[in-house]
Amino acid sequence: MSKSASISIESVLQEDRKFPPSPAFATNAHISSEEQYQQLWNRAKDDPAGFWGELAQSELEWSQPFTSAMQGKMPDTKWFVGGKLNLSVNCLDRHLKTWRKNKAAIIWEGEPGDTRTLTYQQLYREVCKFANVLKGLGVATGDRVTLYMPMIPELAIAMLACARIGATHSIIFGGFSADAIADRNNDAQSKVVVTADAGWRRGKEIALKANVDDSLARSPSVQKVVVVRRTGLDVTMQPDRDYWWHDLMERADSECPAVAVDSEHPLYILYTSGSTGKPKGVLHTTAGYLLGVTMTSRWVFDLKDEDTYWCTADIGWVTGHSYVVYGPLANGATTVMYEGAPNWPDYGRFWEMIEKYKVSIFYTAPTAIRAFIKWGDEWPNKHDLSSLRLLGSVGEPINPEAWMWYHRVIGKEKCPIVDTWWQTETGGIMISPLPGITATKPGSCTRPLPGVVPDIVTEKGESLGPNQGGLLVMKQSWPSMLRTLYGDHQRYLDVYFSKIDGCYFAGDGARRDQDGYYWVMGRVDDVLNVSGHRLSTMEVESALVSNPLVAEAAVVGFPHEIKGEGICCFVIPKAEGGSDADKETLINHVRKHIGALATPDQIRFTTALPKTRSGKIMRRLLRDIAAGKESSQDTTTLEDYSILAKLRDDEE
Ligand code: WT7
Repeated sequence: MSKSASISIESVLQEDRKFPPSPAFATNAHISSEEQYQQLWNRAKDDPAGFWGELAQSELEWSQPFTSAMQGKMPDTKWFVGGKLNLSVNCLDRHLKTWRKNKAAIIWEGEPGDTRTLTYQQLYREVCKFANVLKGLGVATGDRVTLYMPMIPELAIAMLACARIGATHSIIFGGFSADAIADRNNDAQSKVVVTADAGWRRGKEIALKANVDDSLARSPSVQKVVVVRRTGLDVTMQPDRDYWWHDLMERADSECPAVAVDSEHPLYILYTSGSTGKPKGVLHTTAGYLLGVTMTSRWVFDLKDEDTYWCTADIGWVTGHSYVVYGPLANGATTVMYEGAPNWPDYGRFWEMIEKYKVSIFYTAPTAIRAFIKWGDEWPNKHDLSSLRLLGSVGEPINPEAWMWYHRVIGKEKCPIVDTWWQTETGGIMISPLPGITATKPGSCTRPLPGVVPDIVTEKGESLGPNQGGLLVMKQSWPSMLRTLYGDHQRYLDVYFSKIDGCYFAGDGARRDQDGYYWVMGRVDDVLNVSGHRLSTMEVESALVSNPLVAEAAVVGFPHEIKGEGICCFVIPKAEGGSDADKETLINHVRKHIGALATPDQIRFTTALPKTRSGKIMRRLLRDIAAGKESSQDTTTLEDYSILAKLRDDEE
């Protein structure tokens, strides 16, 4: 697997096994025949406005109908123009008029084992109350609210409450540091931060409020902070700035009229890593995003009213936004939410929960699957997993061996596996099996969903033939795509639309086989995929260089058994040498600046870095060294050949 973006990408994966769905699964599936898929896909390609317009009308509840389903071309398409709606109405109010009123919307379990179930009616009431709380704190339609919270029901409540009043939420994963919060607060100009005292993780309290306090010294836009009491950890409350969630909720009115917003009204900002510069504020808007996650939840997970659906992603990532909260709730489904770690109190926690709640659809990540494999089959084998009928995977390519284990040990060879390819920017799933019709191949995300028109092209934009590796692009816009990078539309155009003329490109290499199945090979830019999450090498480098010990740093990924990619840092220290104690210092320094998720796996001190004549660090060479490979790569532009040999000598 090469990460080089040059001309063609070599693919070495050979995989011929095929797993068709069982006839029983096919018969009952939402999309149940190849003809139906072909018809939907062709219609969406030839007449996207007609295809999505009809679905938007039949599947969403509008306060004011739209006049034009689609206006303009990518990169600036507008969807459902003239229409007004409210997302929380679509996730809550509309179900209250049906038998789902008292159906479980969220089944939540905390890490210590405490549980809460919120019916649609109960969730509606909490959302209305918190929407009133936000209004009381001065949040108006169009304002930004930062949510930095553990996986507790209050997070979903806060998201829906923002949507109810047309405020734009910006969720920051709890693993990020105070600096990262401050950067994001400033970029979004957030007015209010919602957090908790702490959250539980492997029996430890992860302090959140303390990080918020630290960040607020550098976030002048933030006026108020709301704090959920979760673990009881001691926190400092600043008068007239910090308020307890429970105090404010006690006084809040339980009805809150929903603000009907324009279809293109900003719903949320979610920061993601790019190869250069500060994190990118991916902006999603209301109607197109909602339609995308509604339809993909139904098509891909084959969601039915009887299902108990569990997506293990943290809501701090896009998977949690789209497939823990918005997609399932728009469909009136029951979504399971879990606060803590999969190995607490023991390695069987997930399987125990599947047995306890009789989970029927389970969606997790390859990095988790690799950990389960390592922990041993005895853990899942202790539990009754017979309620499962469908399994999903997301975040990175799944290795065929992990796929087979998932199929055998968890799915007992009867559950279809949907390997779903998508990105923060795409809002929803793009390429994935349809569980009722697609014969899956381990390691392939298979074929595009209706409305998704991908291609594999060269750097010049020429389509490639079967099994030729190239760049994965989208040729047609789709309703749930990002609309801009917050506050920087030029960067949006540059990052996604300048590489391949007329196409969306967000950095993956892939090939398409003779059956039209896509095999994603990973990122072609300088972006790591650590445990299924994108991290920019450049941000880790900046964090390193901000330490007085460091003169220069280059960061690359290397294959890591559990995390997919580990983080390897080549560091030129300022003083001669660089001790083991310095390594510790730098590891902690990166954790402090970005967060625990960016913890370096290796720090390698060196006296020089390989560079091109123009001074660019040759990361592909460093990648080989980090992976312990002999370099077979072209070094003709390398400025100083001796550096390569030197770096190898520096390895312990
Ligand atoms: C990148 C997007 C999608 C939500 C979680 C990550 C990689 C994601 C797959 C998959 C192969 C995958 C890609 C993509 N990726 N899913 N099923 N097969 N690769 O969202 O942080 O925006 O990262 O994750 O490289 O570009 P993200």
